[in-house]
This record gives sequence, C-alpha cells and structure tokens, in this order.
Amino acid sequence: MSSKDYEISKQKSSRIFVTIDQEKEQLLAYAKKLMREPKFEILVWTEEAKKKVLHYFERILDDPCVKYVAWHLRKPKHKSVLYHSIDVALIGISYAVANKHDEATCLLYGKGGFIHDNGKRFIPVDIINKPEKLNDEEFSVMRLHAPFGYDDLSGAGFEDDVAIACTSEHHPTYPHISGDVSELGKLVAVFDSFGALTEYRPYPRYFKKLIVEGSFKPNEALEVLVEDMKEGKLDAKIVQRFVSIGEISRYIH
Ligand SMILES: [Fe+2]
Ligand SMILES: [Fe+2]
Repeated sequence: MSSKDYEISKQKSSRIFVTIDQEKEQLLAYAKKLMREPKFEILVWTEEAKKKVLHYFERILDDPCVKYVAWHLRKPKHKSVLYHSIDVALIGISYAVANKHDEATCLLYGKGGFIHDNGKRFIPVDIINKPEKLNDEEFSVMRLHAPFGYDDLSGAGFEDDVAIACTSEHHPTYPHISGDVSELGKLVAVFDSFGALTEYRPYPRYFKKLIVEGSFKPNEALEVLVEDMKEGKLDAKIVQRFVSIGEISRYIH
C-alpha cells in the first residue's frame, strides 16, 4: 500500500457529540494500573501526587476533544493506540504535577498526551501493530498519522492551536513540518517518546532491543531521550527538565 492509496481510503469523521460514560471506568482502571509501573516512580514521587495525577486524568475525560478521541479509539482494533494514549496522558500530567504547574497546565498536558495519536486510527492496523521493523513504504504511511490526526480533529470541529500542536506537531522531525513547532508540540514529543520507549510494544528504532529484553527501563529511556536531544530530535530544555525530575527522584525513593 502506498501513501497515495492510503489517502484514498481515509475517511473523515464528523461525529463530535459522543459519550464515553460506559468506557470511563475502564479507562480509569487502566490508568490506575499504569500508575503502578516503575516509570511513574521517577516522575511522581508521593502517593498524594499520584492521586493528583489520577484526578486530573479523570478530569480530562470530560474534555469534548478527549471524549471524541477516546470514543473512536475504544474499538478493539485500536486498543494498542488507546493504551498508549492513556500512558502518554499520564506522563504529561505527571510532568506538570512534578513541575508544580497550575491545574490548567496539568489538564492541558494530559489532554495533549491523550489526543496526540488520534491519526493512528487511519493507519492500517497491520502497520500499527507490526511486530517487525517497518519498511520505508510502511513508515511513510505511518508518518501520515500526525497530519491526519489534525485533519480529522479540525473536520470534527476541534480546530484550534492545542489540537494542531498535539497531533500534527508531536513528531517535530516529520517531513510535513515546515515551520516552527510550538512549545506544546515539543512537550508532547518528549512525553510520547518516553511512553513509547517504556511500553511493551513494537518500537521500530529499538526493535532489536525490544525483542531481546522488552521495553526500556525508565532510566534507560531517559538516556535515549538525551541521545535524541543531542541529535536535535527533541527540545533540549524540555528533555533536561524531564531528566532532572527523574534524577531528583533517586534521592527521594
Ligand atoms: Fe505519533
Ligand atoms: Fe505516540
């Protein structure tokens, strides 16, 4: 399948008013489970802060754009994307809580993490879940998820800077990016990378390691973020801040 074929098969969605009441408990239960993973130990240091993160996560589920994305990702074939979205939302909120940001910022980073891969539901599932490294053609199709994510949200009425930053800009090195990437886009890129590295799922660049050992341990993932920062793929200031939270946590635990 080429990118051109894929363009033809993409369908725009226009359903905005959705309810995820039935799914909400499941989403919260998964979020609670995830918060017990070691990666959150390095971002959120106390039980009180963990509760705060989960509280904000619950709050973002009332955001119409988050609801819209959750509603579409609730289908079994998008399960891996939904779980990743929950993970990245929790990482975004955790980063904001660790930095003692205000409530609006905590909610914003959580929302950004939740909606960032909205476009992946337009990418064939066999590419999303491929257990081997993607070839060049598959990767060119995969890259479309970023612009498609925003096309879809804008078509559904979520046409704003937050939606652009979180979907279209969360892979700052993708070829569709021509101008400057917003601060929010750069932040979501870091949350996304940390999530992708620490989740048990195929991650093409480090595929060999995944096969042998599973996903990266939190501290190893921080090292990869630093490597990517040095190569100019991730924002230096944000990565340094992210890593410093992890380093401080060593003195607390
Ligand atoms: Fe992505
Ligand atoms: Fe992602």
